Amino acid sequence: MHPPVDDSPIDALDRAARWLAAARSVAVLTGAGVSAESGLATFRAADGLWEGHRVEDVATPEAFERDPALVWNFYNARRASIAAAGPNAGHLALAALENHFGSDRFALITQNVDGLHAAAGSRHILELHGNLRTVRCTGCGIVTDRGVEALPELPRCDACGELLRPAVVWFHEPLPEDVWYEASMAVRDCNCFLVVGTSAVVYPAAGLIERARAWDARVIEINLAATEASHRADLSLFGPSGQILPELVRQLESKPGERSE
Ligand code: OAD
Repeated sequence: MHPPVDDSPIDALDRAARWLAAARSVAVLTGAGVSAESGLATFRAADGLWEGHRVEDVATPEAFERDPALVWNFYNARRASIAAAGPNAGHLALAALENHFGSDRFALITQNVDGLHAAAGSRHILELHGNLRTVRCTGCGIVTDRGVEALPELPRCDACGELLRPAVVWFHEPLPEDVWYEASMAVRDCNCFLVVGTSAVVYPAAGLIERARAWDARVIEINLAATEASHRADLSLFGPSGQILPELVRQLESKPGERSE
């Protein structure tokens, strides 16, 4: 554990860049906030409701069993919104950060299902909650990539005719084991852990923050405001990730070869 740091915003950014410059390996956890500047709604903003439903109530296997059309309407609306969205400066800065360290020393762990990290050029991406572009058959289990193609309210499998579901992880479902394992290893191995645009309330993803601390990584939070991650972070940089991340990468790149502090 590290003692908490209390800096001015400029000093804090400089300190964060120094920690990154001194790191051998970096891991990042992103949430919906990193895509907010691409025009995609976060989950817990404003009233946090989608047509009167909490996301926790439309993103469960029980909801899908009860009312698959309601759940598909929610996911079709999300698929339509990503069709119109592109990566923002925050996504691009994270891709640049990967280029700086190399993909074997950098992992981008995301709770997002929008695919915008890949669109920005990131390569070592671990999608904890799956991807909106893919669907899975509830009958034969086949997973297919349907891109952002508009799907009917109750889409059916081409192979067996059974109902398709979004191939994303819902509440009450386990994370994909291989992805979770790789994310845990990346967090264990990193010296610096960035927590970007997440409210850090959904587990097990948010548990990676404690793991990073337990493995003695510097934890740097980037968010508009304080979150559940803040008291577990060594440093919080408050502001839009589309502004802070590019500035952080710019400062890192102005500190070539630094390996101290
Ligand atoms: P949330 O909606 O809970 O949190 C979004 C966070 O982003 C908040 O802390 C905002 O303050 C912050 N934020 C908003 N705009 C930002 C910006 N421009 N720059 C930086 N930060 C900004 O989203 P997640 O934490 O991603 O799970 O939610 C976690 C999971 O809960 C999601 O993956 C999803 C959801 O329900 C499932 O569907 C299983």
